[in-house]
Amino acid sequence: MKIDNIRKYEFGNPYETGAVVCDAEKMIGIPEGFGYDMETGTFTYRLNEKDMVIGLGETVRGINKRGWIYISNNADDPVHDENKTSLYASQNFLIVDGGKDCFGVFIDNPGSVTFDIGYTDTNVMSIHPEYNDTTFYLINGKSPLDIVRSFRTLVGKSYVPPMWAFGYGQSRWGYKTADDIREVARRYKELGIPLDMIYMDIDYMQDFKDFTVNPERFPDFENFVKEMKEEGIHLVPIIDAGVKIEDGYDVYEEGKEKGYFCKKENGEDLVAAVWPGKVHFPDFLNDEARKWFGDKYKVLTDAGIEGFWNDMNEPAIFYTEDHLKEVFAQVKEFEKKELDIWGFFDFKDVVGSIANNPEDYRRFYHDFNGRKVRHDRVHNLYGFYMTRSASEAFERITPDKKILMFSRASYTGMHRYGGVWTGDNTSRWSHLLMNIQMMPALSMNGFVFSGADIGGFGGHTTEDLMMRWIAFGIFTPLFRNHSALGTRDQELYRFERTGDFKNLIELRYALIPYIYSEFMKAVDENGMYMKPLSFEYREDDRCREIEDQLLVGDSIMIAPVYEQNRTGRNVYLPEDMKLVRFRSYDDYDTEVLEKGDRYIKAELNEVLVFIRPGKELPLAKPARQAEKVDMKDLKVIKF
Ligand code: GLC
Repeated sequence: MKIDNIRKYEFGNPYETGAVVCDAEKMIGIPEGFGYDMETGTFTYRLNEKDMVIGLGETVRGINKRGWIYISNNADDPVHDENKTSLYASQNFLIVDGGKDCFGVFIDNPGSVTFDIGYTDTNVMSIHPEYNDTTFYLINGKSPLDIVRSFRTLVGKSYVPPMWAFGYGQSRWGYKTADDIREVARRYKELGIPLDMIYMDIDYMQDFKDFTVNPERFPDFENFVKEMKEEGIHLVPIIDAGVKIEDGYDVYEEGKEKGYFCKKENGEDLVAAVWPGKVHFPDFLNDEARKWFGDKYKVLTDAGIEGFWNDMNEPAIFYTEDHLKEVFAQVKEFEKKELDIWGFFDFKDVVGSIANNPEDYRRFYHDFNGRKVRHDRVHNLYGFYMTRSASEAFERITPDKKILMFSRASYTGMHRYGGVWTGDNTSRWSHLLMNIQMMPALSMNGFVFSGADIGGFGGHTTEDLMMRWIAFGIFTPLFRNHSALGTRDQELYRFERTGDFKNLIELRYALIPYIYSEFMKAVDENGMYMKPLSFEYREDDRCREIEDQLLVGDSIMIAPVYEQNRTGRNVYLPEDMKLVRFRSYDDYDTEVLEKGDRYIKAELNEVLVFIRPGKELPLAKPARQAEKVDMKDLKVIKF
């Protein structure tokens, strides 16, 4: 199929990345409206004063990306400050929206791509791929939503998880035994808080080896999976990209023998280190290796597992054996010298930049469609192809079942195979706001099934932050509380106001009919599940600056509270709306409010939902599991 309002321009020798599924009209020359510097391969576009730039998926800063520089270069970096340029994902679709005129750009280039959006020059957007092999798609349309629809037709339908994945999930790095997990299930049950999933982090494995389960800590795993399922709980294990180097470990031995690991220039397998210690990286870009690795998930699906999260697949590299040798040699040299203060800083840099070192991504190669390709040229495909490996395997090994799958690293195209979580955020109020601002960009880029670590991964959460984050999270398709080893426990039963948490989680379950149907609509119609206000209220300039309210589906707007010690917030209503202030699914008050600015009260246990004119919000009776929610027995709140 060929899409009418998309034009395609090719530069250099672009890779078949798998991002697109349709064709577009091929043009010769430079994309209309853009400048192009042949020498540097940089595209430039002069922004009008009113232009907003929206998109780029999982990136820092606000909904309007103007004013910063973003580098698509998948990075294992847990410090998501607003001065960062790269996170775990590369989703290179954006829209320039001047209010009246708008257009979209999608850059299909799997290497590093720098989007300087009014950073160097306030009025210029420049796009600079590190390697010139680019397919540049220019997308026209009457409105941003129109452009989104065309883009998503180009890249194909988004992934749909099983129904139960719309429930609430509890995760934590550090559940070491089956009993630890039983305890989580029991405490939730005792409080009557719905729960569909308990996630298993690397601790379940034997020495962090993929597709193994520690037999002492999880004796009779298959029965344990069954036991949990009888409790209504799906166990969702993590799979990491690196395969532990260990004699006798079948995945290592087979991969080695068949030549399925990424190789260095000299043909030897690259040795890197991640959680398991020394590892090899499967060459997911190689069709055979991808199939081989994917089939390994069967070990766990055979034990009854129906969901996974793929991690460390940028790939994260703590160190490579080769680089470490170089560093030790350098350190010896430093030791011999009389260091002045600058020499000391050089020394510190050498030692401090061992993890995820750019040089390491130039040390290994892929066998990609019969071409030997250096990793850095296709770096952003790695997590995508790992997830593709799993998803293609599920079609073979469990064809009748939908499997939950989401990944940390991603690239456009992966949205057909799985969702994403946004990686290692921190328990900070600013990261709750970042979650709110990222969601529409993720939806736009096709990652409709997505969400953040609720409560924050790193750092210590607080009860109020958790409460507000849950109150926003009840609207995100992926709804998971996850935290890091060594941080304050943040399962909902750890807090005082468990009754309020219960009410919030029940509200999520009551909203599942709405959430699920709006989610499916976004998938089926290539639309957006969460939208910025400016995409809908085209004539209202105020909406162009609203960075902290979102439209969820077609009927409602939300205005989450994301600041400490607040009992309300300012809300802008672009039209008359009916405010529903929920304390629980069956305890709420409603009030029709006129268009305009309002200060609206929202106590810690309250959730603000605004119903648009002529629309309605269906509510089900919550159940302990998503699949048990009766989608037919609905109460409806009308505008
Ligand atoms: C990475 C993941 C995190 C996980 C941890 C241990 O940091 O992003 O979610 O808990 O590894 O596996």
